Amino acid sequence: MTDLASLLDHSLAAIATAPDLEALEALRVGLLGKKGEISLLMKGLGEMGPDERKAFGQQVNGLRDDVTAALDARKAVLASAALDARLAKETIDITLTVRPEGEGRVHPISQTIDEIVAIFGQMGFAVAEGPDIEDDFHNFTALNFPPDHPARQMHDTFFLPEQSDGTRRLLRTHTSPVQVRTMLSQKPPIRVIIPGRTYRCDSDMTHTPMFHQVEGLVIDEATHMGHLKGCLIEFVRSFFEIDDVPVRFRPSFFPFTEPSAEVDIGCSRKDGELKIGAGADWLEILGCGMVHPNVLKNCGTDPERYQGFAFGMGIERIAMLKYGIPDLRTFFDSDLRWLKHYGFLPLDVPTLAGGLAR
Ligand code: PHE
Repeated sequence: MTDLASLLDHSLAAIATAPDLEALEALRVGLLGKKGEISLLMKGLGEMGPDERKAFGQQVNGLRDDVTAALDARKAVLASAALDARLAKETIDITLTVRPEGEGRVHPISQTIDEIVAIFGQMGFAVAEGPDIEDDFHNFTALNFPPDHPARQMHDTFFLPEQSDGTRRLLRTHTSPVQVRTMLSQKPPIRVIIPGRTYRCDSDMTHTPMFHQVEGLVIDEATHMGHLKGCLIEFVRSFFEIDDVPVRFRPSFFPFTEPSAEVDIGCSRKDGELKIGAGADWLEILGCGMVHPNVLKNCGTDPERYQGFAFGMGIERIAMLKYGIPDLRTFFDSDLRWLKHYGFLPLDVPTLAGGLAR
């Protein structure tokens, strides 16, 4: 009997100190496997007399149960330790901190749009958007371009292949079609700015086939030219961050506005260097005017009750002027060195309070 007691003792001691799952498995095989110590004891039962077998059998069963329980307990401990070790070894740090020393920059076009949105946002304008692929109605007809008007050719339109109904869609030549979409879907008062891509079949030093514009539209019952002027003067001063930059409104023509004007800002050119602010020269930066009554009518707005103004400007152009970027085409070269030089840090979000650009 002492045999069994000492077998139990040393088995439990060995199990409790088994260093890993492999050693534990070896112990299990040595005790409970086919030729294990405890299994052999069970086999020996057959050779015993009935009484002895009963008493010894009970003891061996008890021994086997104790050893099995100890093996299970130790196995749970070792398995969880093994899992912890593996988790610790195989961890992957999936967090990626912002690395200010990295190459990533906000493109000057995105930055300029953000600045424009910040300025007009504070004046109460919302941002509206429309599709790049337009139809003749939104891009021209609703905007009061007569059927064979030369302005349609002037826009150097990219047309898409003819559709089954004989019409051709086109890449919008300006952001003005979104004026139409906005008026058709919203009731006045309307106050929106519309930044986006525009397309004209034109490519040279100062033109790229794709460029960006931002459109503005205000429609209300008593909106007049004074509002247009005040709004744009305020914008120009905030955008260029020059309080006394001279602003000039020059009569012009657009089919969709009447009267129409072009806006120039003062500048000076010395030794080939352009400086914005009071000076002898003027630079044209945008087109604007009072929305033509025909446009209001085409968009389901009653011109007897509502009027308003619209303006449109090229984003590349004002970005070049503000940030001294000499060549338009470089905007679309995707040259990392250019972006690193002219781009903006991603965390410096432009606000009027915090500064537009740092
Ligand atoms: N859509 C005009 C252009 O592309 C700009 C403009 C917009 C002029 C709104 C007046 C009013 O040239």
